[in-house]
Amino acid sequence: MRGSLAEAATGGDRGSPAAGRATDTPPGTVPHPVRTVGVVGAGTMGNGIAHVFAQSGREVRLVDADPAALTRARDTIARNLERQARRGALARPAEEVLARIDSRGELEALAGVDLVVEAIVEDPAAKLRLFRELDGLVGGGILASNTSAISITRLGAATRRPARVVGMHFMNPVPVMPLVEVVSGLDTSADVTERIVALCRELGKSPVVVRDSPGFVSNRVLMPMINEAVFCLAEGVADAPAIDEVLQLGMRHPLGPLALADLIGLDVCLAILEVLHAELGEDKYRPCPLLRRMVAAGHLGRKSGRGFHAYPEAGA
Ligand SMILES: NC(=O)c1ccc[n+]([C@@H]2O[C@H](COP(=O)([O-])OP(=O)(O)OC[C@H]3O[C@@H](n4cnc5c(N)ncnc54)[C@H](O)[C@@H]3O)[C@@H](O)[C@H]2O)c1
Repeated sequence: MRGSLAEAATGGDRGSPAAGRATDTPPGTVPHPVRTVGVVGAGTMGNGIAHVFAQSGREVRLVDADPAALTRARDTIARNLERQARRGALARPAEEVLARIDSRGELEALAGVDLVVEAIVEDPAAKLRLFRELDGLVGGGILASNTSAISITRLGAATRRPARVVGMHFMNPVPVMPLVEVVSGLDTSADVTERIVALCRELGKSPVVVRDSPGFVSNRVLMPMINEAVFCLAEGVADAPAIDEVLQLGMRHPLGPLALADLIGLDVCLAILEVLHAELGEDKYRPCPLLRRMVAAGHLGRKSGRGFHAYPEAGA
């Protein structure tokens, strides 16, 4: 699928213009190119998303409720830009790219941006609350979510602009991975989906359009595999290095499923499985109790320094 674009899944502009719409932009139309981008959530994904938009020459406002997350995000972006610069992979000086990112604590910084990409915690209630707030703050722009599994249709319905709500599901690590799964909600307009597809290409990414469905394609396929690997570990079928080795050496996966879960974050994996289980209602998506215990213990993977493997250099 890499480099390919699945058939656009929307059936035209189905956004019904709600009475009392706050903006003067017709629903589902995007009158100008995306020049300024707000990113909400400066964690694992948010810092990478801010990085790629700034690298493409756009002004970025990065917002997080936790000031420490903003500091960590800037440090990570600076380190990753330096690495790219050393390899000759940056068209602009690293300092210039970093200077395009304005880190803030308040959502109000997002008034007037052309696009917001939400990358906060994978919690439906938190995301719905944020989308309601963003709807009142951000003029005629597009609201995108980087959610791994939560319904884009549901997020759109929390706003008065469902035609301009879309999924932009970047992969981890964002500056490196080519795929963006573009998720078209029931009421996302075809115009917005196409604009986001074009934008992804401008970022040097390979967009694939999918319909809104729990976990989309990526996590509906990936998470049951990760969950099954955790069950294998819990049942003592093999230890973590052996389970990962089987998939790496036998199926040519660059990372084994447990190492990949550590990279994604075990809390994120659990949250995705919970959405799949609740929404699709099948036992095959039931999160392994060991995964729940790991999250309860705070062993979240790379970001906490310990998951199925140990990361002594991280988690500080
Ligand atoms: N980790 C991955 O590999 C991966 C891949 C693709 C998509 N995603 C999705 O991206 C989103 C973010 O995941 P992550 O791994 O970056 O999480 P994370 O825990 O690393 O970061 C989340 C950040 O959001 C901030 N935050 C939480 N609530 C907030 C609010 N209301 N307002 C502002 N900031 C808030 C937190 O302080 C934190 O810094 C999730 O929806 C996740 O499912 C994750």
